[in-house]
Amino acid sequence: MMTRNAIILAAGMGSRMKSKLYKVLQPVAGKAMVDHVLTQIEKAGVDNVVTVVGHGADAVKNLLGDRTQYALQAEQLGTGHAVQQAEPLIGDAVGTTLIVSGDSPLFTAETFNKLYADHEAKGNAVTVLTSKAPDPSGYGRIIRGGDGNVDKIVEQKDANAAEQAVTEINTGVYVFDNQLLFQSLAEVTNDNAQGEYYLPDTLEILKGEGHVVGAYQMDDFDESMGVNDRVALATANAVMRKRINEKHMRNGVTLIDPLTTYIESDVVIGNDTTIEPNVFIKGNSVIGSDVVITAGSTIIDSTIEDNVTITSSQIEDSIMHQGSNAGPFAHLRPKSDVGENVHIGNFVEVKKATLGKGTKVGHLTYVGDADLGEDINIGAGTIFVNYDGVNKFHTTIGDHAFIGSNSKIVAPVNIGAKAMTAAGSTITDDIPAEGLGIARARQTTKENFYNRTAQGHKEAEENK
Ligand code: UD1
Ligand code: CA
Repeated sequence: MMTRNAIILAAGMGSRMKSKLYKVLQPVAGKAMVDHVLTQIEKAGVDNVVTVVGHGADAVKNLLGDRTQYALQAEQLGTGHAVQQAEPLIGDAVGTTLIVSGDSPLFTAETFNKLYADHEAKGNAVTVLTSKAPDPSGYGRIIRGGDGNVDKIVEQKDANAAEQAVTEINTGVYVFDNQLLFQSLAEVTNDNAQGEYYLPDTLEILKGEGHVVGAYQMDDFDESMGVNDRVALATANAVMRKRINEKHMRNGVTLIDPLTTYIESDVVIGNDTTIEPNVFIKGNSVIGSDVVITAGSTIIDSTIEDNVTITSSQIEDSIMHQGSNAGPFAHLRPKSDVGENVHIGNFVEVKKATLGKGTKVGHLTYVGDADLGEDINIGAGTIFVNYDGVNKFHTTIGDHAFIGSNSKIVAPVNIGAKAMTAAGSTITDDIPAEGLGIARARQTTKENFYNRTAQGHKEAEENK
């Protein structure tokens, strides 16, 4: 049976990145580069994927899980040596093998499929995917023969002046006849400037054995870029950002300034939503329709339903139901569940709390570890005192309760439906439904007090 296999090369350290994080795990639009590569390979449809791991093997395996098989390259002796590590897993397969570097995050499944189509149509032994680089330095150069097919690929460090002038580059993506791949790899040596076993050397070997070595040139150089350092990482992020933002705009989302809107790969957004500049939407966030998100907001792993307004606020791992709003300068910390039409005003922090429909928390308040019913009003400056330095305690407040401004709710405490607290109270005991909790000193008023102040004395002396 003919099978379609794929190998992802992901064992390198990526020393040019100068990072503690292994290169293929560096994020582009919030997703590790190697994850982008695997996602597109999955979309293209292959039978087996082998990821070659070495540096950061455990971290890469943790991330990709059972979406791929793994081959370990204990020592990084070059891309050819890396591919050889997959031989025990797929060496016997009859069919084709697509090879992609884990540091090339912008390739699309469409491009892989065009490469397959060209390879199959021409009956090549191998077809390398190439592109024309405005600046080819750092890439392997494609040296074509008189027949237009490929004679060989020469790495930057091994290239003479004439070869360096070639602008057609090796993108690091190939489709091979699987068995010819492993046969030719066995003949690759490390006799070159870097002392490495180069995968591209298999092309010259196959050509020498009389096989047809083809090249398929893609149009878009940007898509083919390899990311070796942080300058390229920023470029790749910009390209991916443009791609993501254009997708959302075509789907009916208004981005006031797409150049400064940062939406990660897996985010979903409904139509007629408007997003202002300097907004970050990350992780698995799902944003509904007719949502307005104003400048400077950050939304992480959250669900934002239709008709919500988020004004310059930060929302993390939370849900905002239809018609609710937050901000300016609100902070929803993890596990906040903000009900329909709830209003969260300025300088309000909410953490691990449920707020029922229509409840209002307008100003300068902390709500933590609490269940709030519907149509509650929380006055300005209210603090849920939920922590004694060791344990967190819970507060429950019933529907239609009215919490006076500057109340301190010392948890654990239950406040019943339609109950009230007097402004400035420090509430330590439960309040039954429809009751009032008042916990503050009574006011005493002293008449003619001014004369007893220092200023009053001074004025009295002067007027003598
Ligand atoms: C490679 C190609 C070059 C091509 C460029 C495209 C070779 C020798 N050169 O160069 O022709 O133009 O990609 O971007 O193949 N890796 C391993 N094990 C190793 C070495 C590398 O798994 O022993 C992995 C790396 O993690 C990386 C990929 O292979 O994901 C490519 O290696 P890298 O060192 O980045 O190759 P380039 O110098 O970019
Ligand atoms: Ca590279």
